[in-house]
Amino acid sequence: MKSILVLNGPNLNLLGTREPAVYGGTTLADVEAMCKAAGEKLGFAVDCRQSNHEGALIDAIHEAGRGFAAGTHAGVVLNAGAYTHTSVALHDAIKGAAVPTIELHISNVHAREAFRHHSWISPVAAGIIVGFGVDGYVLAIEALSRRK
Ligand code: DQA
Repeated sequence: MKSILVLNGPNLNLLGTREPAVYGGTTLADVEAMCKAAGEKLGFAVDCRQSNHEGALIDAIHEAGRGFAAGTHAGVVLNAGAYTHTSVALHDAIKGAAVPTIELHISNVHAREAFRHHSWISPVAAGIIVGFGVDGYVLAIEALSRRK
């Protein structure tokens, strides 16, 4: 069974209590349980990780890249949080690891402040899911499962 890495970046550990009008009331633990259940249905083992540290996110992407090269990983669902808008290092990590990565945002970043409209992840993403709330995680897992 191949693995999918669901990787959440800074402040996403606060889901459920952080700006509920924007991000909803579902906790990260609930999201991770949804992801694992969705993966199970589709025949994937879902590994969920969260870090507030850019380097830890980069290390996890590199690890998934090694798994993808070895045929044990199907790809990454990445909500890089605010690092989306700042991190050339995450852009380079996705490119360097050559692992299919779905960029995900819970909120519709394009309907929000201008500083959220630019993404360093988008040019190196296999696809982008934006604005579907936490259901986007399940959509992203399904999207990865459909890739040949
Ligand atoms: C986010 C959008 C980002 O702009 C923000 O910094 C986040 C969450 C989202 O899921 O909507 O932390 O990635």
